Amino acid sequence: MGKIAFVTGGSRGIGKAIAISLAKEGFRVAINYRSKEKEAVAVKQELESFGQEALALQGNVADSADVARMVSEIEGAWGPVDVLVNNAGINKDNMFLRTKEEDVRNILDVNLMGAFFCAQAVAKKMIKKRWGRIINISSVVGLTGNVGQMAYSASKAAIFGMTKTLAKELSARNITVNAIAPGFIETEMTSGLSESVQEAILGQIPLKRFGQPEEVGALVAYLANEESGYITGQTIVIDGGMSL
Ligand code: NAI
Repeated sequence: MGKIAFVTGGSRGIGKAIAISLAKEGFRVAINYRSKEKEAVAVKQELESFGQEALALQGNVADSADVARMVSEIEGAWGPVDVLVNNAGINKDNMFLRTKEEDVRNILDVNLMGAFFCAQAVAKKMIKKRWGRIINISSVVGLTGNVGQMAYSASKAAIFGMTKTLAKELSARNITVNAIAPGFIETEMTSGLSESVQEAILGQIPLKRFGQPEEVGALVAYLANEESGYITGQTIVIDGGMSL
């Protein structure tokens, strides 16, 4: 039976592509979704078409009780999680002086606290098994900052600190923890940007194209597998050279 992966925010975009990459590699994948049940069920069926069981679990990653319930549903169905992919994330862009307290708290709640709750919910069993992979989806803006993205870039930078610390704490138990920092990937999150903003971003990308969710999925599949076992505490940038 395939190893067990839990991908948060897996009903669309990068999370969906990650789930598909893992299912193709033979993982049993549980995706989490917040509200879009129809989309999540469609992804679950697509995952099953690769020959493994799949789960679609409703829940808010910013709510520790929801996270505990989802993880125990996975454990009840299949057993402990081998690979956690903290992908769920939100943004709400605004210039620094207009940024509202409520928005900063919401973004940190989902992007940082959500990743923390999920990691804590799976780590104990990984320690017991002496095997695990935690892969955190951050962003290049966590490295570089970005105009209008104070809260989002701060939440993504926080992920690097969490990744490095967990890597140090959990390495003795053969658990690797890494971060991925995508640049501009074509998803619903980025489709809302105006054409002129997209043109301006394209001008900053040496490879002269936007990234595809499947390219992030392939990187996650590599980090989830056995052969990446000597990589831990790292941030892998996948941005067409944008941050160079
Ligand atoms: P998206 O908006 O298409 O998907 C995000 C997913 O997270 C959705 O399925 C959403 O329902 C889920 N989600 C949001 N809040 C949640 C919550 N509280 N509980 C559970 N699920 C929740 O975004 P996209 O583009 O697929 O992004 C995925 C990840 O990649 C995010 O963490 C994002 O910050 C990151 N990223 C995306 C980039 C891009 O260019 N698209 C660039 C760099 C990072």
